[in-house]
Amino acid sequence: MDKRPIGIFDSGVGGLTVTGQVMKVMPDEKIVYFGDTARVPYGSKGKETITRFSCQDVRFLLSKDVKAVIVACNTASSNSLEHLKETFDVPVFGTVIPGAVEAVKRTRNKKVGIIATAATVRSGAYEKEIKKADPEVEVYAKACPLFVPLAEEGWADSEVAYLTAKEYLTPMLEEGVDTIILGCTHYPLLRRCIEKVVGENVSLVDPAYETALRVEKYLEENDMKGEENFAEHEFFVSDSTDMFDRICSEALKNKYSATEINIEKY
Ligand code: DGL
Repeated sequence: MDKRPIGIFDSGVGGLTVTGQVMKVMPDEKIVYFGDTARVPYGSKGKETITRFSCQDVRFLLSKDVKAVIVACNTASSNSLEHLKETFDVPVFGTVIPGAVEAVKRTRNKKVGIIATAATVRSGAYEKEIKKADPEVEVYAKACPLFVPLAEEGWADSEVAYLTAKEYLTPMLEEGVDTIILGCTHYPLLRRCIEKVVGENVSLVDPAYETALRVEKYLEENDMKGEENFAEHEFFVSDSTDMFDRICSEALKNKYSATEINIEKY
């Protein structure tokens, strides 16, 4: 047994969608969340910057004595996961492998779409993992950078979001994909709108649930699970907490308040 918390980080609020799944799968675990709201988005930045930011995020979580780290940001997972694993003496979990494996399981016609940030698409990480699982699967990737501000603005169900989704997704739908990976942790916030565009015959994969299951399995196998840890979860951000608090209530169906910290110190 290990009563220390699980650390989760994202470039901002997107990782709260992963946090929701972690809370469902492991209700006994305490969570320490960090959202780098001062430096979001990561998705438009280069690999080196994303890796430098991610290292600071992990260092902050380690200062809170976490027993494991979940990189609840596909951009950081696809660009920096290996570096984080090599650098830190703590188990680090990303979202890409669980998402890729689940998509390969679900596709019937072996045509999978990936929607993600520009940096995630550029990394080719999802494509690599999908091909590893099944080399015959064809992959159609599309960067959808406007989804992040739409989700953060609370415009997930607006006409603007619908038209944006239509513009981004129509080409891969025309290619016949039957499965689409929500390859950015912000995108589940737009799920209803994306579903409206893709229709019910296309399966949407949110890697968050599979990621949470993997972490649970690891903790179980290594005797690291917490037990009835009813300590309050803790949320930290690197800039103004207003939008964070709103999306927190939306994604976690609960009211949590975040504390602002200076991430440059880590
Ligand atoms: N939530 C981040 C991800 O999963 C995307 C937001 C950003 O661009 O920072 O990729």
